[in-house]
Amino acid sequence: MGPGDCAGEHQDRLTIMTDSNQTPLLRPPQTGGAATSQPAETSRQIERMIPSRILEISYAFWRSKALMSAVELDVFTTLADNSLDLETLTRRTGIHERGAHDFFDALVALGALWRDADGRYGNQPEFDYYLDRRKPTYLGGLLEHLNARHYQNWGSLTQVLRTGVPPTGGVGTYKALHNGHPMQEIFLSGMTAGSLVSAQALAAKFPWRQFKTMIDVGTAQGGAAVEIACAHPHLTGGGFDLPQVEPVFASYVLKHGLSDRLKFYSGDFFSDPLPTADVLVMGRILHNWDLATKNMLLGKAYRALPPGGALIVYDPLIDDRRADAHALLSSLNMLIETAGGFEYTGADCKEWMRQAGFIEMRTEPLGDMHTAVIARKAL
Ligand SMILES: C[S@@+](CC[C@H](N)C(=O)[O-])C[C@H]1O[C@@H](n2cnc3c(N)ncnc32)[C@H](O)[C@@H]1O
Repeated sequence: MGPGDCAGEHQDRLTIMTDSNQTPLLRPPQTGGAATSQPAETSRQIERMIPSRILEISYAFWRSKALMSAVELDVFTTLADNSLDLETLTRRTGIHERGAHDFFDALVALGALWRDADGRYGNQPEFDYYLDRRKPTYLGGLLEHLNARHYQNWGSLTQVLRTGVPPTGGVGTYKALHNGHPMQEIFLSGMTAGSLVSAQALAAKFPWRQFKTMIDVGTAQGGAAVEIACAHPHLTGGGFDLPQVEPVFASYVLKHGLSDRLKFYSGDFFSDPLPTADVLVMGRILHNWDLATKNMLLGKAYRALPPGGALIVYDPLIDDRRADAHALLSSLNMLIETAGGFEYTGADCKEWMRQAGFIEMRTEPLGDMHTAVIARKAL
């Protein structure tokens, strides 16, 4: 602030660095002059801006790490049945008393818990519904996965941006993961949680009545196949994945009472053809791979489908304006975790599908971070 400025004036003159839709500017702010000599008014405005966006982004990981630790410590499961006072909640979650009060109050401030006048804590409804381990709607597997893998992996972002090479090399990651790696269980249940909302949307939005069989390619535990089969009792099919995934798939499908309708199809989509079904689903598969592999997989899907069959691909699609941060950051996650993976736009995917022979391509938002691209094989 300059001499004579008061707080009120300062607030009035904050420059909001967003366009009318409150999305980040996709062009530099207009200065009205050459970049090297800003007009006096603009430089005064810049002096008076508070760095709110910088601060919000910079500290964002504190918030997400607090939530991930709350899931790791089972805070929401502990509070699902009853509200608890500080001392009982601290003891039941095994938290040291030094950090407990501030930790639980931070979760209140983040809107995850409430605290009443007597100092008792309880779950806010959304957190109770999705983060109580004993509910079928439990999404905590996603946060456990983000906590155990992504949070660590993102520490190498700067290095990967410099080299273009992920620390693991990104090659053969899946086979290593499924070969007794301690992270396998967290990964697979994280996949189920991360695709739950998308799978439910697909079950509701796709015209399944027109089809009899469905196979989910790269199925992991079978989360999407289970959601779709539960909603559509006439469907049979299953999930295709590497052979080591079969026991996890079989037990998940059994737990949902679907073993008579959903089978495991064992194979490697690099060396084997894809199994045949009226509908093939590829959820969060294409984004793992480079363009040549994306095209190879779409070609295999086309050959595996019968005439009139359908392919459903879903990933965190980049929007056409490249304005939404989530899919762009997800593409950076592919940079960190894979040798050649990247996110893409709906238009990119439709064009690759067209080249593979598909027709009638359309996109369908799935209500979370994912968008489906749906295509047909001609009759
Ligand atoms: C990112 S996960 C997606 C899981 C699930 N479709 C979802 O959306 O939650 C990728 C899946 O592809 C499987 N996969 C990777 N390489 C494969 C291969 N060569 N052949 C068959 N499946 C493979 C992995 O085992 C894993 O289950």
